[in-house]
Amino acid sequence: MTSDPHRADLGKDPSRVSGMFDEVAPAYDRTNTVLSLGNDKLWRVATTRAIAPRPGQRILDLAAGTGASSVALAASGAEVVAADFSPGMIAEGERRHGGVKNLSFVEADATALPFEDDAFDAVTISFGLRNVNEPKKALAEMLRVTAPGGRLVICEFSHPRSPVFAGLYRFYNDRVLPVVARTMSSNAAAYDYLNESIRDWPDQTTLSAWLREAGWSTVAHRDLTFGIVALHRARKPLVAPVG
Ligand SMILES: C[S@@+](CC[C@H](N)C(=O)[O-])C[C@H]1O[C@@H](n2cnc3c(N)ncnc32)[C@H](O)[C@@H]1O
Repeated sequence: MTSDPHRADLGKDPSRVSGMFDEVAPAYDRTNTVLSLGNDKLWRVATTRAIAPRPGQRILDLAAGTGASSVALAASGAEVVAADFSPGMIAEGERRHGGVKNLSFVEADATALPFEDDAFDAVTISFGLRNVNEPKKALAEMLRVTAPGGRLVICEFSHPRSPVFAGLYRFYNDRVLPVVARTMSSNAAAYDYLNESIRDWPDQTTLSAWLREAGWSTVAHRDLTFGIVALHRARKPLVAPVG
C-alpha cells in the first residue's frame, strides 16, 4: 500500500468506483453511522450550517450518494440538485427521498458536469471529492458552475494533527473498521478501499492549496472531530482573474 499523497489522483478507475458504490448503496448510510460511531450526524450538521441554505437558492450537492446530505439542504426551502455518477446510489436516493420537495436527483460525473456556467449559488460535496478520479478537475468544474460570489463547502476525511490521536485513529481504521465492515456490509472490500483512500488523501493544508490553484478565493478550513474530518469553505471570485 503506497503512502504517496497523490495516489488519490491517479489510481481510481471511475467505472470500478461507481460499481462499488452501486453495490453498497442499500446499506451505505447505516454502515457509515456505525463506522463513524455516530459522528456522521455531527459532520452533516456542521456542513449544512456552513452552507447556510436559504429559500430560493440553487444548491448543487455533488457526489450526493443516497442524498443523506441533500435532504437537510432541501428542508430549508432551497432548490437542491443531488448529483452522483453511481446509478445505484441515485436509485437508492430516489427510492428514499423521491418525494422531497425542492430535491431532484441527477446522474452526473463531477469532472464533466452537465450544468451551465454560474448555475448555482452554492456547491457542496461531502465525502465525495476523495473518491473522484481527478479531484482537481472536479474543483475546476465546481468553480465553473458556481455563480460569481457563490460558495463552496467541502466536507472530507482528513488527517488528525495530534500524533497520539492519529495513532489511535490509524489503529481503528486498520484493525477495527475492517472487522466491523465485514459484519455489516455486503461488500467489505469497499471498506478496505475506504481506509486506503483516507490514508492516501492529502491533508487540510494541501487541499486548501488545491482550492486556491483552481481559482477559489477566501479559502478556509476547520477541523471536525480532531481532524478526522475537515470542513473547507471558499468563494468564487466576483470578477474573473485576468489572463
Ligand atoms: C462516500 S460516498 C458520499 C455520499 C454522500 N455525499 C454522503 O455524504 O453520504 C461518495 C460518492 O461519490 C460518488 N462519486 C465518486 N466519484 C464520482 C464522480 N466522478 N462523479 C460523481 N460522483 C462520484 C460515488 O458514487 C459515491 O456515491
